[in-house]
Amino acid sequence: MQLQDFDIDVFLRDHWQKKPMLIKNAWPSWDNPITPDELAGLACEPQIESRLITKTGEAWNVENGPLPEARFGELEAKDWALLVQAADHYVPAVAALIEPFRFIPNWRIDDVMVSYAADGGGVGPHYDQYDVFLIQGLGKRRWQVGEICNSDTPMLPNSDLRQLAEFQPTQEWILEPGDILYVPPRIPHNGTAIGDDCMTYSIGFRAPSRAELIADYCDDLLEHLDDDDRYSDTGLKLQSNPGEIPAAAIEQLHTMLTEKINDRETFVRWFGAYNSTRKYPDMDWTPEEPLQSGQVHNILANGACLLRNPASRFSFIRHEGNSVSLFADGDCYDCTDETTALAEQICSQEIVYVDSELTASQQTIALIAKLYNKGSLALDDGE
Ligand code: SIN
Ligand code: CO
Repeated sequence: MQLQDFDIDVFLRDHWQKKPMLIKNAWPSWDNPITPDELAGLACEPQIESRLITKTGEAWNVENGPLPEARFGELEAKDWALLVQAADHYVPAVAALIEPFRFIPNWRIDDVMVSYAADGGGVGPHYDQYDVFLIQGLGKRRWQVGEICNSDTPMLPNSDLRQLAEFQPTQEWILEPGDILYVPPRIPHNGTAIGDDCMTYSIGFRAPSRAELIADYCDDLLEHLDDDDRYSDTGLKLQSNPGEIPAAAIEQLHTMLTEKINDRETFVRWFGAYNSTRKYPDMDWTPEEPLQSGQVHNILANGACLLRNPASRFSFIRHEGNSVSLFADGDCYDCTDETTALAEQICSQEIVYVDSELTASQQTIALIAKLYNKGSLALDDGE
């Protein structure tokens, strides 16, 4: 589905990562995909990350889920909000909200957070490191945005909510069901429910920090490094001052470091696998009994389609020479000419209808079997 009255090219040129954009009445017809009661139910589940934020006067309080069901009966009529992470993993209609935003590559998608707020409820002024599309689902919310922040921006002490010490709004809008507000990273924002039954869907886009890339890549490299792989100075020349670390030693030491970090092929494979690692591993579709390729072939020949595990992250990288590696759930699958088409299809579609050309290929069936046995894909025969 496409958003109406929304020009992707103009958005990417003028707004993405640059400035907020309000898209009024963006859906041809808007249906709120999950009820407040269903959302409260998710917040009671132990494997789902949720937070309840209450405000009493100027004091904010955060309770982490899972919440006891009785907690909802104790809440005041005003000034609280419930936030549920990754609701798209549990509710297909919430996952469907991502579809119109596929003009941003999948590898950048984080998840869909859903919030419910009573009148006056919200999380206070803050900024995120993420791009976010805030879809108003039910009721009304006032959104205020301000000027870009950075790590020097003063924050309230000890705030779990990472709230700003000062917030000067420069623009504000009241969103109604079906409206969308895009907010770029580090643009401070404050959403306050106006009236009851305010629901907002946040489609978040992650971007790795340099610190995270360096730390996690180096951790991975370290696992494959050998203690015998050391600096050596055979042919050492006498130097005039024994206190100097000579340029030649620095050169060799620096090369020891950079030749590992600079290896693009190693980096590509690491990044693909790293980026496809699940944020929430609980959604386990691993079958009790793994299937053999022959069984997978028969199930597909009977018309079953492939369903992606909503918690799995799929992507592919094209290497020089055009070969492709598929990544899912932290694993790398190097594709052949026969399996590349399937890999590309899985990465671009939630549901893959497997045609006879694909089922005729043993390599393709073997790849499907591997992904099925890992719990990344299900075989859906409609039952
Ligand atoms: C909310 O939905 O209440 C908060 C979303 C956000 O500010 O990022
Ligand atoms: Co935010």
